[in-house]
Amino acid sequence: MHVLSRLAAALPLVTTTIWALPTTNTSTPSTLYVSHYDGHVYTLSLDTAARKLTLANSLQACGEMPSWVTFDAGSSTLYCVDESGSSANSGNGTLSSFAVAANGSLSQTAKATTLPGGVASVIYEDNDGREYLAIAHYEGSAVSNFKLPITDDSTALQTFEFTLPGPPTDPSRQDAPHPHETFLDPTGAYVLSPDLGSDLIHIFAIDKASGELNQCDAFAVKGGNGPRHGAWWAKTDGDDSSNNVYALYISNELANTVSIYNASYKDNCLVLKESDEIVPYPKEVPSTANVAEVRIAGDRDVYVSMRNDQAFPPNDSMALLQASVDDSALTYTNLTTSYGKTPRTFVINNAGTLLAIGNQASSDVAIVERDPKTGALGELVAQLQVGAQGTPGQADGLSSVIWAE
Ligand SMILES: *[C@@H]1O[C@H](CO)[C@@H](O)[C@H](O)[C@H]1NC(C)=O
Ligand SMILES: *[C@@H]1O[C@H](CO)[C@@H](O)[C@H](O)[C@H]1NC(C)=O
Ligand SMILES: *[C@@H]1O[C@H](CO)[C@@H](O)[C@H](O)[C@H]1NC(C)=O
Ligand SMILES: *[C@@H]1O[C@H](CO)[C@@H](O)[C@H](O)[C@H]1NC(C)=O
Ligand SMILES: *[C@@H]1O[C@H](CO)[C@@H](O)[C@H](O)[C@H]1NC(C)=O
Ligand SMILES: *[C@@H]1O[C@H](CO)[C@@H](O)[C@H](O)[C@H]1NC(C)=O
Repeated sequence: MHVLSRLAAALPLVTTTIWALPTTNTSTPSTLYVSHYDGHVYTLSLDTAARKLTLANSLQACGEMPSWVTFDAGSSTLYCVDESGSSANSGNGTLSSFAVAANGSLSQTAKATTLPGGVASVIYEDNDGREYLAIAHYEGSAVSNFKLPITDDSTALQTFEFTLPGPPTDPSRQDAPHPHETFLDPTGAYVLSPDLGSDLIHIFAIDKASGELNQCDAFAVKGGNGPRHGAWWAKTDGDDSSNNVYALYISNELANTVSIYNASYKDNCLVLKESDEIVPYPKEVPSTANVAEVRIAGDRDVYVSMRNDQAFPPNDSMALLQASVDDSALTYTNLTTSYGKTPRTFVINNAGTLLAIGNQASSDVAIVERDPKTGALGELVAQLQVGAQGTPGQADGLSSVIWAE
């Protein structure tokens, strides 16, 4: 009894040590994949102990404008979509697949033609574990899906081409529908796509027998928001999933805000309801800036990347917003440097100890420490310029980065 209680008292200390391990334990280097608008896909290797990020491999692939990489750990396959083409100048985008060798190097396995302007993709599964990939086509004003694995001859299973629902609030940016991301809901049963041009969030129910998407009612956001990317907060009840509470955070590229929507499931569709909105910044967001990525770590820390705000010259910034375990409402917490220009994308590792920030214009990946206890972002662990630098506001430079996890 005595021994047991002493053990119990020691436990919190042990927990602290475990949290600290992943940043220092580097028996195997981590791999990251990068897409770059210069027409390449890059493999990076991170040695955390040596604080070194190195280029392991580069491949000219993924069309003229590689925009987004998605990793399927189960099949060790990397997918990349290409932003080429537009409805105005015709042309098409592409979807490429790559086999990942044990040493992390890539070899192309297929390249299929798609609608124009692919900017993001997500993998989903049917009831039998077959995989599909849904693409957001910004210039193509559409969402399409493909059955995986693809071949050179693969064609879309379905295409959903959108038209503007009415006169846009911001005609210069909202000239047409512009789906900007595809991502899953917390149950894996729906694909969502924020549409910057239409001020809508498209919602699709996955037919779990066929992998096809059934369109639900799209959710209309406030005019001029320009919704770009999304992340989910969840409070789950292990005993009864009908008690689960879900909230969706959307980064709004045009309004420079983060919206909070409560989600519920009704009549085989996912239904959103506006709850709140927050300015992810200590003051008014500078007019030069545009929010980009939003991601959540654990059940509380929400990060938003701020392109071209120059809050830490010559660098831009990352905002930290915090929810609580019980309530999805967000509180602005802190602004820290992005260690580069135009942080278009960033990803958090599974351990929650590191962020990889993809700075588009300075065209680098910055690996930054994250304290899982407080959510605070810390020092630069390592950084590497990848490919040619870009210009803020142009479709050049580094387009996306992911961990191979
Ligand atoms: C830490 O290193 C050991 C080998 O020294 C390895 O077995 C373990 O999986 C590593 N843990 C992590 C989190 O990388
Ligand atoms: C990695 O593995 C691939 C395929 O097995 C091989 O072709 C390539 O040379 C290897 N690269 C390195 C750097 O070892
Ligand atoms: C290529 O793009 C055009 C529109 O620019 C579209 O009509 C056509 O379906 C696309 N081809 C494929 C294979 O997606
Ligand atoms: C959304 O859900 C939260 C609980 O997470 C609740 O506090 C809030 O009142 C809800 N908002 C609306 C508009 O229903
Ligand atoms: C900007 O980022 C660089 C790394 O690219 C870093 O060395 C420098 O300290 C940063 N400056 C500020 C003010 O954040
Ligand atoms: C807030 O950010 C500043 C840098 O901008 C940093 O010095 C400070 O430690 C951060 N505080 C927290 C609580 O994250």
